[in-house]
Amino acid sequence: MTIFVTGGAGFIGSNFVLDWLAHSSEPLVNLDVLTYAGNLENLATVDFDSRHIFVKGDIGDTEMVARLLAEHQPRAVINFAAESHVDRSIHGPEAFIQTNIVGTFHLLEAVRAYCGQLAAEAQKAFRLLHVSTDEVYGSLDKDDPAFSENNRYEPNSPYSASKAASDHLVRAYHHTYGLPVLTTNCSNNYGPYHFPEKLIPLCIHNALADKALPIYGDGQQIRDWLYVKDHCSAIRRVLEAGRLGETYNIGGWSEKPNLEVVTTLCTILDELIPRADGKNYAEQITYVTDRPGHDRRYAIDASKVELELGWKPAETFETGIRKTVQWYLDNQAWVANVTSGAYREWLGKQYGA
Ligand code: NAD
Ligand code: TYD
Repeated sequence: MTIFVTGGAGFIGSNFVLDWLAHSSEPLVNLDVLTYAGNLENLATVDFDSRHIFVKGDIGDTEMVARLLAEHQPRAVINFAAESHVDRSIHGPEAFIQTNIVGTFHLLEAVRAYCGQLAAEAQKAFRLLHVSTDEVYGSLDKDDPAFSENNRYEPNSPYSASKAASDHLVRAYHHTYGLPVLTTNCSNNYGPYHFPEKLIPLCIHNALADKALPIYGDGQQIRDWLYVKDHCSAIRRVLEAGRLGETYNIGGWSEKPNLEVVTTLCTILDELIPRADGKNYAEQITYVTDRPGHDRRYAIDASKVELELGWKPAETFETGIRKTVQWYLDNQAWVANVTSGAYREWLGKQYGA
């Protein structure tokens, strides 16, 4: 048996690959085109593990995906590959349309053809798990109930609209062609190997570099935060026992305003690596222009995956954020490598001087 993962050199994908190989003896094929967000250094610890087969390539290359599926005969495909950063989708939506919509379409075509020619038993066991986001549901007001799987799709950014479109395609391939799919919609992840363009790793990196910690608008936008390894365990569980054609919301029951997230990580840094001048890291917090169309609040009701599949997150925000800060302190060489070159251009584009 083998599983086939796409986007396994990115943040969540690489955590999943490491998690999978730590929990299972089953080999894993990892297809990733290695955009700026894909980094083989994340997978350095499994470099010589023969169960990890890395292939550089695009999910939109149906022919290549078809060839790989025929060669490796996976029992499941897990699709992490995507453009994933909202701010980049505002500056340049096209790559999001190409990968998240057109790429997913081509992947679905290849998987449909592969699944269609499997023997009856293998076909019955086969699954395509599509990894998506809570952002497809749009923005909540302060007192609205958390997103359930029955919420309407109301995406507001080019990123979330492209993910919503991919979710719809996955759903349609189940209803029209009987493709055995599962979809997960997860809240904001954080943890090791998180590229420092997203809020938490950016602020840890900037804090240590004595730079501004940029807070968009009033900093009172709320996200639900989930430690990435908990997301990985949820995906393993949904793959194992999720009902065909169903979607599962995954979340950490950890709603926090952005400002609180940043002040929490500043407090942990004050404790672990106090500034030489005796100041608090929180003094580096700087309010900057808000993101256009910034969603005010996301919140996940994860009751379905908990009650139906018995999954629960192992980390609270407090334990997860501490582990995350410690990981960045212990892995400054990784941070130095990913923050050279093109990363600096991105900072200039997004935050100006
Ligand atoms: P990421 O940007 O860190 O990684 C994406 C990976 O996909 C990279 O390795 C990249 O090289 C690869 N990739 C991009 N285009 C590709 C293509 N055309 N073919 C093959 N590989 C390609 O993203 P992430 O944060 O790890 O997110 C993974 C998935 O989880 C995405 O689908 C995202 O929408 C979803 N998600 C992310 C979060 C989050 O908080 N980061 C939350 C919920 C859901
Ligand atoms: P981000 O990590 O980009 O994830 P998402 O937009 O997918 O939720 O942002 C998390 C929150 O932090 C979001 O409300 C935007 C905000 N934010 C800032 O305030 N400053 C920043 O520099 C960044 C990158 C994000």
